[in-house]
Amino acid sequence: MQDASDKGAPPLPDAKTAEATPPTVSEARLLSVLDTAADGIIVIDERARILIFNKACEKMFGFRAADVLGENVKMVMPGEYAREHDEYIGSYIRTGVKKIIGIGREVRGRHSDGTVFPLELSVGEAQTPEGRQFIGILRDLRPRKESEQRLAELQSELVHLARVSAIDEMGAAIAHELNQPLTALMLYLQAIRRAHAKGVDIADRIGDVLDKAVGEADRAGHIIQRMRQFVEKRDPERRLCDIEPLIDDAIDLTLLGQHHRIRIERRSTPALPPVMVDSVQVQQIVVNLVRNAIEAATQALEPVIRVETRRDGNSVVLAVQDNGPGIAPEAMAGLFQAFASSKRRGMGLGLAISRTIAQNHGGDLMVDPGGNGRGACFSLALPVAAADSDAE
Ligand SMILES: Nc1ncnc2c1ncn2[C@@H]1O[C@H](COP(=O)(O)OP(=O)(O)OP(=O)(O)O)[C@@H](O)[C@H]1O
Ligand SMILES: [Mg+2]
Repeated sequence: MQDASDKGAPPLPDAKTAEATPPTVSEARLLSVLDTAADGIIVIDERARILIFNKACEKMFGFRAADVLGENVKMVMPGEYAREHDEYIGSYIRTGVKKIIGIGREVRGRHSDGTVFPLELSVGEAQTPEGRQFIGILRDLRPRKESEQRLAELQSELVHLARVSAIDEMGAAIAHELNQPLTALMLYLQAIRRAHAKGVDIADRIGDVLDKAVGEADRAGHIIQRMRQFVEKRDPERRLCDIEPLIDDAIDLTLLGQHHRIRIERRSTPALPPVMVDSVQVQQIVVNLVRNAIEAATQALEPVIRVETRRDGNSVVLAVQDNGPGIAPEAMAGLFQAFASSKRRGMGLGLAISRTIAQNHGGDLMVDPGGNGRGACFSLALPVAAADSDAE
């Protein structure tokens, strides 16, 4: 700890003197305000020496006020700021050009244990009889950053959970779908086994039967692989994608779990520009929309779903239209909110998550509620990848 008086600075508050001379009423009031403040408050002089370091600062930086008073404020800054700080103050005093004063910005602080952490800093200035002083108000951004990160993680877990739940709900039907190739496979092998047991010459048939068996095993493997890809826990990853095959794949996956007879009218637009997306998440939206459409359309005598794509300005749009009852006006307000479901087994997450995914991609999910004999129509808009958009 250097002696402030050596540097020709104004006298600094001194613990011993403070004890000897009781503070005046206004000083006592100020000290109490400083120590009650939830934000860190540091006051420095023109030579960057710390004059005030309140209780919130002690907690934030792990230094006691008594240890930092009179020291250069650089001691609570990481290297990159510390190097420039004297120059900042010097240049402000010379030129009057404000880089931070009255503006406030996100900076980084250094704890006594050496860890560097984010801070929001706003700086004010005061002319005092003892010279110019700078007042820094500091807010520790760690709790906010941590909760932002936790929120992002929770959101991604929820998105994943909804995919698992969709597959779970389709489970029985998927098991049935899987059973078909496995049964066929068994029948082929049993037939050839029986023929062999009876001493029948199978030489000319065996190749054909084995090919068929391999085909069925392949089909079963493909179904499992597709489900696994869909439910796999993975970090989101955006790539340049052609949207049409993504949609076709998602429709196939949804139909795997269906036993209703539904006509799907698929209309695609040739040469749609690519989109920059996380393909599994976009498929998740399509699965949600098509499942909802199927559930609505099965209320009609002849369920029909139309899935079409088009370009609309700088977006690629996917529209899913069904011929169900449409959406009641009273259901519209909460439609995209979580847990708004009219279904016995529904979690009411499908549309909420789909819209979140769409908006995270810079797009949106909209609805035309239909009604009066017309089914609902959901439109997913995704921005055309930069190189192909009109703006370029
Ligand atoms: N195509 C549609 N036609 C009519 N109503 C619909 C349609 N799509 C969604 N809805 C209504 O919106 C509600 C919310 O849909 P959402 O997909 O968010 O949840 P869910 O399908 O009920 O459950 P989950 O998707 O989580 O299994 C549904 O319960 C249904 O009442
Ligand atoms: Mg749904």
